Amino acid sequence: MKKFMSVVILVCLSLLMTSLVGCTSSQKQSGESSKDDNKLQIGIVQIVEHPSLNTIRESLIKELGAQGFKDGENIVIDYQNAQGDQTNLKTICQKFVNNKYDLIIAIATPSAQAAVGETKEIPIVFSACTDPVGSGLVSNLEKPGQNVTGTSDAVSAEKIMELAKRITPGIKTVGALYTSSETNSVSVVNNLKDYAAKNSLTVVEATVTNSSEVQQAVSSLVGKVDAIFSPIDNTVASAMPLVAQVANKAKKPVYVGADSMVKDGGLATFGINYTILGQETAKMAAEILNGKNAGDIPVKTMTDMDIYVNKDTAAAIGVTIPDDVLKAATIFGK
Ligand code: TRP
Repeated sequence: MKKFMSVVILVCLSLLMTSLVGCTSSQKQSGESSKDDNKLQIGIVQIVEHPSLNTIRESLIKELGAQGFKDGENIVIDYQNAQGDQTNLKTICQKFVNNKYDLIIAIATPSAQAAVGETKEIPIVFSACTDPVGSGLVSNLEKPGQNVTGTSDAVSAEKIMELAKRITPGIKTVGALYTSSETNSVSVVNNLKDYAAKNSLTVVEATVTNSSEVQQAVSSLVGKVDAIFSPIDNTVASAMPLVAQVANKAKKPVYVGADSMVKDGGLATFGINYTILGQETAKMAAEILNGKNAGDIPVKTMTDMDIYVNKDTAAAIGVTIPDDVLKAATIFGK
């Protein structure tokens, strides 16, 4: 019996050893296959592909080149898109961390939250996060500390609603269309509610959890409101043509948080330039690659705002955009 037990133990131990050895060697292999030790490794993670986030990514990669960091020459960029899925975000960020990349660039708030959740060591530069403090990315914009800094596209619901009043006066009820899990949107909708309380405006909410729910949410709103408001919401932005289709049919104006959402059929916004935001993000990344601590670089909030309007949408819903607005605006459509 004793002899039998020791054989069993030996067999178990040897099995354990082989599996451990197998495991470490395969991990090493996958790490090595995507790591070139002569070049700095940069992981870019993006929650979803929608026009605004793509503009940011393209702009920041171009500016990194201008700052002396060229993909394939002295850096290797590993770009990953999570297709709107939180679980993918986590897997992507874990891979970046396991591979010991030199820098992570996280585009939009959900990506940044996933990256921050995975590492306190690898520097993270977030890009276009609307409310970095409220979203738990940093506790102080001026002195972020730790391994995180980035750019913010904070927008003002109040300014967008003031613009809405000039274009379609008489709005009494506004529908807030957004994703409940996107803290970037929640913070702007809270801003909208404060504004509404002071201006005797009623807010009706329609929230979604993913892009397949957007059509149903807009349809539920159009019969109840004078206008729709959608903040800089990644899920709504990726379904914007559909939102415009439903709202235009019901002849309801849609005011949005970003220029790309106007281009994709929203009526108007008062927002920032995302090409410039991408460049600013790259400049921060370059500083870090040159040796600076991420936590010592203040978060940069973009403050230059412009009016954007879509004339095709205006025509489709029978709205005439006042001349003074048109004169100051970037115009999409004819
Ligand atoms: N601000 C968004 C966030 O914090 C990201 C974003 C940038 C965005 N540009 C946009 C969302 C345009 C919708 C539309 O996640």
